[in-house]
Amino acid sequence: STARLTVDPHFTVGTVNRRLFGSFVEHLGRCVYDGIFEPGHPTADAEGFREDVIELVKELGVSAIRYPGGNFVSGFRWEDSVGPAEDRPRRLDLAWHSTETNQVGLHEFSSWLDKVDSELMMAVNLGTRGTLEALDLLEYSNIAGDTALAQRRIANGKTDAFGITMWCLGNEMDGPWQLGHRSADDYGKIAAQTASAMRQLDPSIELVVCGSSSAQMPTFGEWERVVLTHTYDAVDYISCHAYYEEVDGDLGSFLASAVNMDHFIESVVATADHVKAVKGSDKSINISFDEWNVWYLKRFENVDKITGLDNWPVAPRLLEDIYSVADAVVFGSLMISLLKHADRVTSASLAQLVNVIAPIMTEPGGIAWKQTTFFPFALTSRLATGSALNVKLEVGNYDTKAYGSVPLVDAVATHDAETGRSAVFLVNRSTTDEVQVTVDVSALGEVRVLEAQTLSDADVYAKNTLEDPERVGLSDNDTVSIADGALTLVLPPVSWTAVALA
Ligand code: AHR
Repeated sequence: STARLTVDPHFTVGTVNRRLFGSFVEHLGRCVYDGIFEPGHPTADAEGFREDVIELVKELGVSAIRYPGGNFVSGFRWEDSVGPAEDRPRRLDLAWHSTETNQVGLHEFSSWLDKVDSELMMAVNLGTRGTLEALDLLEYSNIAGDTALAQRRIANGKTDAFGITMWCLGNEMDGPWQLGHRSADDYGKIAAQTASAMRQLDPSIELVVCGSSSAQMPTFGEWERVVLTHTYDAVDYISCHAYYEEVDGDLGSFLASAVNMDHFIESVVATADHVKAVKGSDKSINISFDEWNVWYLKRFENVDKITGLDNWPVAPRLLEDIYSVADAVVFGSLMISLLKHADRVTSASLAQLVNVIAPIMTEPGGIAWKQTTFFPFALTSRLATGSALNVKLEVGNYDTKAYGSVPLVDAVATHDAETGRSAVFLVNRSTTDEVQVTVDVSALGEVRVLEAQTLSDADVYAKNTLEDPERVGLSDNDTVSIADGALTLVLPPVSWTAVALA
């Protein structure tokens, strides 16, 4: 089959916000302990952070990192995580049926963020706590001066305020699994109250209110409408969360997961704009897509369940999905979906970062390695700068069980007026056929190909594992050529490709 598209810097969707390349570190399983933090590891620095992991996180190119949860945050007492480490309490973590040792907390995580050059995106607990505790944490974090809480931070070793800009008002409060789960009306009220109070303390912060945990939630749509009706004036973003997996061997539907993500984003934008119209507001609410990934939730449902009154392990192996080539192709297409909506999705967090549904895996005392999903993230984060462009794609469709008839190829482009660089990102969803692509790049003037890299494999289920950590990687796409304003290349079946031009 064939596909045609056009890259023209005039077809602007919106600016690519660096925050689109965010991630997420939750106190869950081995994400923190035995993930980023392992004091006994040969590469551990003076604070106990693994330097091999730090290097990989830097290579991944992650902007802001959401912390400390996730479901974990709904039982979190932030005070436990500050002060001398030896005095910090061990607590039950009800979300993941584990023991939280609190050896890594706000100060340590902030120091680690400096090492990986990322921004902190903090979540407050609106499940089992409320406005006062959120205010205390904000004061502890952002007030430089002479108050009891600021002095406590200084006594704990941090003279300057943390200066945290991005704040999430709880997590997935629509989910019945959430500690302190609430109705849209109840959550909307507490979120509005907390948001206004936090702004009264620090007007410079940016606030994310909880949207739906997925577009499949029974309350989806109505939840957003009700919550935004309460909080519209006080918040900046509404969150979206989405996870995709291959179900019953239906690879065709799985490869089309981004169709669902497109629909999800467009529905939330429509709902936010509806509330804007009703309120007669001139402000728009954007999306923080602060949990997205492939996650084999159904496959590991029982494996990942810890039970027992006397069984609360520290850092158990939980949600340690090992990703295939097909998973990484879907993952790359989800990034294409985010970029296609760059005008309204202005922040996003890949869930998560290390060991837990993660692009980076570690073995205690051993190696750290890249999962297949590492590659599309790192390359997109490096190449997608400037503005996102609509590419006017012409391509055939195929039938899927889950989403009906969907395009065989999806694509987006970016153009950076400052550097003169452009990039095209493409996914071929066909499980059988390669696609011959022609890209009209005449509007870019004289350009050459800087790099063209493809992720594909004869075995779409090939993976990188502890035993074989470099089995899958990117390869140069040597079918690419450019002449007379036309870029041509071949996309293998089940593949993700990025081309950089200048
Ligand atoms: O990312 C794993 C979990 O998925 C998070 O804790 C929760 O917010 C979501 O359900």
